[in-house]
Amino acid sequence: MYIGSDYYPEHWPRERWREDARLMQAAGLNLVRMAEFAWDRMEPEEGSFDFSWLDEAIQILAEHGIKTVLGTPTATPPAWLMHKHPEIYLVNREGRRASFGSRRHYCPTIEVYHSYTRKIVRKLAEHYASNENVIGYQVDNEFGGSRTRGRCYCNSCHRAFQQWLEAKYRTLSRLNESWGTAFWSQTYSAWEQIPLPWPNEAPANPSLELDYYRFISDAWIKYQNLQVEILRNVSPGKFVTHNLMGLFPSIDYRKLGEPLDFVAWDNYPRFSQHLDPAAVAMAHDLTRSLKNRPFWVMEQQSGPAGQNVMGTAPSPGELRLWTLQSIAHGADSIVYFRWRTCRWGAEQYWHGILPHDGKPGHRYAEIKRAAQDMAKLKHLMCSAYPAQVAVMRSYDVLWAFEAQPTSADLDYDQELKSYYRALHSLNVNIDVITPEAEYDKYKVIVAPSLYLTNDDIVQRLEKFVAAGGTLLLSFRSGVKDWENVVHEETLPAHLAGLVGASIADYTSTGRFESPNAPAQLAEVEFVHPELTSYRGTASVWCDILNLESAEALARYHGNFFNGTPAITLNKHGNGSVIYVGTSLNDVAIRELSKWILRTQGLQAPLGTPTGVEIIERRYNEKPVLFVLNHNSERATVSIPTAARDILTDQRYNDELLLDPFDVAVLELV
Ligand code: GAL
Repeated sequence: MYIGSDYYPEHWPRERWREDARLMQAAGLNLVRMAEFAWDRMEPEEGSFDFSWLDEAIQILAEHGIKTVLGTPTATPPAWLMHKHPEIYLVNREGRRASFGSRRHYCPTIEVYHSYTRKIVRKLAEHYASNENVIGYQVDNEFGGSRTRGRCYCNSCHRAFQQWLEAKYRTLSRLNESWGTAFWSQTYSAWEQIPLPWPNEAPANPSLELDYYRFISDAWIKYQNLQVEILRNVSPGKFVTHNLMGLFPSIDYRKLGEPLDFVAWDNYPRFSQHLDPAAVAMAHDLTRSLKNRPFWVMEQQSGPAGQNVMGTAPSPGELRLWTLQSIAHGADSIVYFRWRTCRWGAEQYWHGILPHDGKPGHRYAEIKRAAQDMAKLKHLMCSAYPAQVAVMRSYDVLWAFEAQPTSADLDYDQELKSYYRALHSLNVNIDVITPEAEYDKYKVIVAPSLYLTNDDIVQRLEKFVAAGGTLLLSFRSGVKDWENVVHEETLPAHLAGLVGASIADYTSTGRFESPNAPAQLAEVEFVHPELTSYRGTASVWCDILNLESAEALARYHGNFFNGTPAITLNKHGNGSVIYVGTSLNDVAIRELSKWILRTQGLQAPLGTPTGVEIIERRYNEKPVLFVLNHNSERATVSIPTAARDILTDQRYNDELLLDPFDVAVLELV
């Protein structure tokens, strides 16, 4: 278990380093991540390397009991390199070449950059291979974290895309057939003819677009792995990780995470997650589920955040709350971004633990307290995370919808978040998985808008349901094959056997009539006796369903399909499949989720008021409950049996009173 901070000694005079280390130690910190943007200091001129400043910083920190994680500095290739090789700059979709003066300005496929990368990574790894104070490496920094999301359209990427396609399809006739290039006279007779999906006079072939998104994701993974290989060979015995960005959609994090020892992510609840505790929870759950093991938060918000424009300051208690929320969801180390707020550069307003003046204040005090709390929870870091519910999120589906959103209002991630949020509010532990994950350990899989399917996914879902699982699918599921081509069979095509209903027709809020047309298409009325009677809304899309073996759980009210089924239930083997033909409002999703959990016998360990999150961990087979109050008011939680708060050692018999942003970690006694 590490608790630390992202530290930039290169930003401060050497005389200050010792004082920083002393303050870190006094706050209970035992780790720093350093150097991920310091290429210009490591190699001030081509071929002349200088790690002496970093050696000194590492040594001073080590004398204060602080270990180091080193970032490879490739997110910021220095001026001398970019001046010499301007072909390294990333080119955006519109053809604009990136330029110097910011970061993440390089293309992932350019060979000359790979050779400079190899050199600097090898030098760094050789230099630190035998330094015991360096415990691991972070490769680069936040792949894809820039305006273009890392999508490069340069000549090198163009050629690499054609080679990627050749490796995938082997023959042009297979590619032509898979993409349906007979449409608009697009048959290719040479690999060199295949374009990138540049902006054009009319839409591109969606199969080409999906393959480009897959290719560019693979290109970043390949670039990462080039570094991983060097680090492992030259500096064995140290871990290798990368800092991800939660729900970031453009790189397949499951594949990216494969060669890493563990994954890390950067958590800014008041910035990128818009202060939505469920969105933060979902990002944590996604990160943990990638490798199904503890992860790190490599950058945890520690002050008001924002680059040129700043957001609101965290309220007292929130820094500690976010730390403990991360631990609850499976993080076993927390690194705060950043130690001291910088006086220059693009992030002068991205506040760290210390303010600009370097004097410890209330944020320092709060992090010191969080460090003390973490020490009390050490034994829980590798404890089990029992989740019987999974929400499925597919990168391929994200990209297929990016190529063709289908409805102006369809937002795949928002749909997923709506279901996640409902389940999370019902206090069950959730994994956020990709379709490639194992399904056996779950009782419920919620897979909204599973737009693309392949035989493997369909067969494994069938097996999961037949064995007694509950599967929820929703509109636009099973529409296309893996190459983004609509199935020939009546929808939901290969999922029809599971759903037990067919889709006779559909309508969308295309908004072609008027951009202000209402997003709501109809109402949805629950009709099943086991469901609470409720009338909600149907928006974005409505499937018009014919029941086969399924029965109706809810029916549409209004529009030309008035009275037809909107939500269906089909028994299949020992399990059941729920199909939701539309985008439901939040209350409807919550009611439906409650019923699903009840029918699967899944019970929350505690009921809580709104804004109080419960996460269950298992230690020595016994439940340990994190109770997190995200409200700015006090909250009362009833507890069924006597419990002890591990953080305060206080005992509770029937009721727990939590201050604003306070946390209890309960052991049931
Ligand atoms: C992260 C990034 C850090 C820093 C931080 C605040 O996305 O990894 O280097 O920029 O945001 O902007």
